[in-house]
Amino acid sequence: MKTSGLEKGVNQGVAPVTYGQGERPPRGDYARARSDYTCAQDYAQYSEADHDTYRRLYARQSAQIEGLACREFIDAVAQLGAPDRIPRFEAISERLRKATRWEIVGVPGLIPEEAFFALLAQRRFPVTDWMRTPEEFDYVVEPDVFHDLFGHVPLLFNPMFADYMQAYGEGGLKAARLGSAELLARLYWYTVEFGLIRGSEGLRAYGAGVLSSAGELRYSVSSPEPRRIGFELERIMRTRYKIDSYQASYFVIDSFDQLFEATAPDFTPIYERVSRLGEIEAGAAADGDRAIALP
Ligand code: PHE
Ligand code: FE
Repeated sequence: MKTSGLEKGVNQGVAPVTYGQGERPPRGDYARARSDYTCAQDYAQYSEADHDTYRRLYARQSAQIEGLACREFIDAVAQLGAPDRIPRFEAISERLRKATRWEIVGVPGLIPEEAFFALLAQRRFPVTDWMRTPEEFDYVVEPDVFHDLFGHVPLLFNPMFADYMQAYGEGGLKAARLGSAELLARLYWYTVEFGLIRGSEGLRAYGAGVLSSAGELRYSVSSPEPRRIGFELERIMRTRYKIDSYQASYFVIDSFDQLFEATAPDFTPIYERVSRLGEIEAGAAADGDRAIALP
């Protein structure tokens, strides 16, 4: 939940593993992936316990989204289908293609960042197909099928957010060529994973990492503890982030239009400037911050 698909080289070069019929493929079984790292959703492998874990996670999160998640997310979450079984990716893709020309594709787990960017640029969102164990109910270190589906997929039904994700993928391929993928990864982290939005209903979450987290959803939107800062592209690119605790800072957009427009310019000179300016620690204040106060 606290990791995006962006971590460098994670699980690359894992030796091919075989597994017997009816046996669960180990995590990171990249032998079943195609050269673009996608794989068929291994639906037959889900046990009743896996479906039950999905059902319980879904119930816990959907019970708290009202008042905490943004309206676009709440309106779209039903597009995932019945909340009591792990959905079939193909059924979601059919609806997504009609809505925004996106589709979801299975992956065995984290994939190299260039493969990830390439899929986004093609409007294909990679969804990990395995389910966390019951012991990992509250926290799982890698994205699993629940995080990827519940956290990421509903907003792909929103046209503006859908276009942002594709632009991000294209920008990622360019950033990789320029050696600036780490700066761009921070933008993903503070928007797609942990972003907050302040619209007519007040402060709400739209980031997948918060939306799929039992505790951080409420924390991010209503705790007085973390810093909340108005969206500023270069500030975000300079800001380090936490992967093993709740975020110390959240960045707040006014609308998805604002996000799309602020990220439309060519980043090439921005990367150069930002790397000269230096990093900001995760919870630190910086000159020019627009503090977003709680109501
Ligand atoms: N405008 C960015 C660039 O030129 C691409 C981008 C768009 C990156 C949206 C992230 C999000 O690199
Ligand atoms: Fe994620």
